[in-house]
Amino acid sequence: MDSVKPRNACQAGSRASKSSCRPPGAIFLVLLLCFLVGFLPAGRASYSVGVGIADTTGPVAEVVFMGYAKMDQKGTGLHLRTFSRAFVIDDGEERFVFVSVDSAMIGHGVRAAVLRKLQTRFEKIYTEKNVMISGTHTHSSPGGFMMDVLFDLTTFGFVQESFNALVNGITKSIERAHDAVLPARIFLTQGQVLDANINRSPLAYMNNPKAERDKYEHNVDKTITQLQFIGVGDRPLGAINWFAVHPTSMNNTNRLVSSDNVGYASVLFEKVMNKDAMIGKGPFVAAFASSNLGDVSPNTRGPKCEFSGKDCSAQYTCPGKHEMCFASGPGRNMFESTSIIARKLFQESMRLWQGGNVTEVLGPIRLVHRFVDMPKQTAEFLNETTGSKAEVHGCQPAMGYSFAAGTTDGPGSFAFEQGTTTSNPLWNTVRNFLAEPTPEDVRCHGAKPILLATGRMVLPYEWQPKVVSTHVAVLGNVIIAGVPGEFTTMSGRRLRDVIRKAANDALQEADLAVIVAGLCNTYSDYITTPEEYQIQRYEGASTIYGPHTLTIYLKQYQELVTAAIMKKDLEPGPLPPDLLKENLISLVTPVLYDTPKWRHDFGDCLQQPPAKVFPGDVVTVQFVSGHPRNNLMTGSTYLTVERLNDDETWTSVATDADWETTFVWERTSVVLGSSDVLISWKVPDDVEPGHYRIRHNGHYRYILGGVYPYQGVTNQFQVLTSAVKR
Ligand SMILES: *[C@@H]1O[C@H](CO)[C@@H](O)[C@H](O)[C@H]1NC(C)=O
Ligand SMILES: *[C@@H]1O[C@H](CO)[C@@H](O)[C@H](O)[C@H]1NC(C)=O
Ligand SMILES: *[C@@H]1O[C@H](CO)[C@@H](O)[C@H](O)[C@H]1NC(C)=O
Repeated sequence: MDSVKPRNACQAGSRASKSSCRPPGAIFLVLLLCFLVGFLPAGRASYSVGVGIADTTGPVAEVVFMGYAKMDQKGTGLHLRTFSRAFVIDDGEERFVFVSVDSAMIGHGVRAAVLRKLQTRFEKIYTEKNVMISGTHTHSSPGGFMMDVLFDLTTFGFVQESFNALVNGITKSIERAHDAVLPARIFLTQGQVLDANINRSPLAYMNNPKAERDKYEHNVDKTITQLQFIGVGDRPLGAINWFAVHPTSMNNTNRLVSSDNVGYASVLFEKVMNKDAMIGKGPFVAAFASSNLGDVSPNTRGPKCEFSGKDCSAQYTCPGKHEMCFASGPGRNMFESTSIIARKLFQESMRLWQGGNVTEVLGPIRLVHRFVDMPKQTAEFLNETTGSKAEVHGCQPAMGYSFAAGTTDGPGSFAFEQGTTTSNPLWNTVRNFLAEPTPEDVRCHGAKPILLATGRMVLPYEWQPKVVSTHVAVLGNVIIAGVPGEFTTMSGRRLRDVIRKAANDALQEADLAVIVAGLCNTYSDYITTPEEYQIQRYEGASTIYGPHTLTIYLKQYQELVTAAIMKKDLEPGPLPPDLLKENLISLVTPVLYDTPKWRHDFGDCLQQPPAKVFPGDVVTVQFVSGHPRNNLMTGSTYLTVERLNDDETWTSVATDADWETTFVWERTSVVLGSSDVLISWKVPDDVEPGHYRIRHNGHYRYILGGVYPYQGVTNQFQVLTSAVKR
């Protein structure tokens, strides 16, 4: 676990003696200088920081969600809007941007498009070197933005609307952060969340050397690491924290767009800090970012058989194999589970914010970025069992059989089992029809029986990336390693150790915090340890560059960190292909036209609220609607819950981004293009009694062309307090 110790006088005074504090330099001189300068007056800003948030919500209906690879998991509405949260950090010489976005992942194409947009306004301020974009890994947002064939396969190809929503939202969040930059200080603090995550592949974890496992109390990381940003005049600006957990509390039966557990934790934190501001509108921004979550599930009740409720076998199958084995909990249903996990994360981050043991982050910013062609890499591997060293190398991307089995967070659609290390002739025939792995591929991937030789599949265009982004940001004594995929628990621990050692060797300093920022910039699936890989669970089967993917990354990040600290430039590496230039396959049909239900207009209320409601009640109303894809209502809302003021004006108290509301779209006639929406509002316990109404805002596509807005509003209804009820 990372430990953080207070900084010594040198770093504390680094602002005044900044250039001389830069390692490697003459350490002695630096110490002397810092000693002479002493501490800066308290409260002086050490960095400039800007935070920004923007809506990234894509098409909420009829587009398959990204994450579970389940083609029938198409959106039918919205529970929580998704957001991009950006943090610009500047030390006067270097500028770093960290973005956490409520998205399944980030692809090279998305980041490249964001950078192109930023460059039209800011020229060369924002580049690959200083913009790190990390996906939270929610599994409940519309897909089709990745472009690589395999990742867009289950979404019926490329979905321009998803792509644009993501690119525009991320760009806007960075622009907002840019415009908000002011002098600020940064603090680091760490805490623990004990009961919010479990390991979903303990069998693979157990294959790691015992001596290594014995160093850790848990088989997943429980540490939450938080950076806190305070502007001049003690103004709270924002926070980023990293905790390793899959945002898969919402399972693969969910059809409502959601930012899942970590997204809701952000909302809870921001609500407290921003008081009355509507969600996504306040100045304070709190990101709950992804880390080494590869084998980490939030479904803390663990895997059980679907019907019998019994424990699954050690291989995660159920008797007779006619039942699915999947994990759930801790709540009664997925909404409650999402909320419970979100609250655990939120509570610990808030505790840290209010009274955590903080150390100030001080010292220069150093950035390195390099594109790496993974199949071309070599590294040295020490086999702990045999004690022998060997040169190993990366493989052409390939997915193993167990990939198709899915995980206990979302079982797969075919009869594949995890832990498969032998292959099946029928599937091999299908596979060879797509692309046959070469004997070299088979040898290279070792324990993995190849289901899809994606590295050999070139038609119609790239199936999985070969070139990935590797990225390191050093902020004083905090090192953030942006990794292009899902590192497992032990992979993340090894990476942190290697980075800490490399940094210590270069810095001669012991008090470092090393953060693994997950799913950054490129998505290349999972990264297990070579030992976990041998077991070929889902994560091993999805470690696409072979058993030594991690071995290669350890070497790469060691080089990156050393270069960053030595202030040495690295070769930028080969640029990944620009898939936007390809003739991207897209089978998602556009909205053709809308017509209202017979004898109705768009926005007509078909179901009115009850006259009187109480806290805890769910108010459900229904409107004649257009297709939500006609307008994503970016930065706005499909619905508002409004309260009547004394002066006869109305105030919005909730939007479609609130936990208490859901927005469900249903097609009533495909031929006519008719549809309606169901809007629900769970009356909160702390509701202000009074008169309320619910509004729906939408757009319809006229059959002869054009998209037009409409709105509808319910009758007033009365909200009474529970006291009246009793
Ligand atoms: C604060 O953190 C430092 C560094 O981790 C540690 O040495 C110290 O004991 C902590 N203090 C408290 C009160 O927890
Ligand atoms: C998903 O959660 C719901 C409860 O919200 C449950 O009924 C269903 O069985 C779960 N399905 C899976 C595959 O986890
Ligand atoms: C280490 O060597 C042993 C013996 O050859 C082998 O069984 C094992 O798979 C190797 N471990 C890794 C991670 O390659």
